[in-house]
Amino acid sequence: MKRLLAFYFSGTGNTRYVTQLLCRHLSAGYEVQTHEISGANHTEEIQKADIVMLAFPVYGSAPPQPMRDFLYAHRRAVAGKELIIVATQYLFSGDGAASLGRAAEKYGGIVSYAEHFRMPNNISDCPMLAVRTGEALWDILTPTDRKIVRFAARILAGKKQRRGFNPVSRAVGYFSQRALFRKHEQEKRMRLSVDAARCIQCGACVRACPVNNLSLCGGEIKAAGKCALCYRCVNLCPQKALKLFGKNPPKVQYAGPTYMKNEKNT
Ligand SMILES: Cc1cc2nc3c(=O)[nH]c(=O)nc-3n(C[C@H](O)[C@H](O)[C@H](O)COP(=O)(O)O)c2cc1C
Repeated sequence: MKRLLAFYFSGTGNTRYVTQLLCRHLSAGYEVQTHEISGANHTEEIQKADIVMLAFPVYGSAPPQPMRDFLYAHRRAVAGKELIIVATQYLFSGDGAASLGRAAEKYGGIVSYAEHFRMPNNISDCPMLAVRTGEALWDILTPTDRKIVRFAARILAGKKQRRGFNPVSRAVGYFSQRALFRKHEQEKRMRLSVDAARCIQCGACVRACPVNNLSLCGGEIKAAGKCALCYRCVNLCPQKALKLFGKNPPKVQYAGPTYMKNEKNT
């Protein structure tokens, strides 16, 4: 059986959900292994795999820094390798999947499949963006589940599909990446801050941070300036003491997609 190796970065569980469901369907034709990306080196496993999946959420229509770093660290291993690029997003990203796909192709990767999946919003401290919980998630998860089934069937049938690589998607992506989410703007607008009056120094945010950006120092949460913008800490803080984008900490936190729907249906 051919070997499929899937790597994902997921701040709040959406991309993990999509990766796991997709891999479950793909296990009909592949021996599948999934890994959450970390600092670990996977060069040898990638070299042995027949096909490699890279899954991530889009941030301003672009891949998160940890996923870009992962690809760069494994650029020699992906040369000549067939790739599946999976991007999760709330509304649109234009060329979210293609923006990592193009980087992979620069290193000699062969992007045979690329797809975007709509998932719930996880930016919880911006009043303009509603956070859904419980059954309200189903409206988004149900069509996404179906799209996952269709995408898996295409991969199993070997029918290539490259979402986001056409000129229109590229233009939309360019607009979002440059106009809406310029790097210096990102730093200005998205600085993690902790409400000292609410924080109880429980360390939940420190333990949850996927890039070890946070530490508890002298009774205060300190950020080392390498935030991945993943929103995990903002959504996990039991005191709702953290904010990143909005003026105030969230009223409702994003709890991630649940398997409630599937459990109910079975
Ligand atoms: C910093 C940030 C920027 C985002 N930018 C976009 C975007 O440009 N377009 C979009 O549709 N969704 C955007 N989203 C929403 C996420 O891509 C979406 O909720 C994703 O599925 C979260 O995945 P995760 O739970 O695996 O981290 C953004 C989320 C964050 C935290």
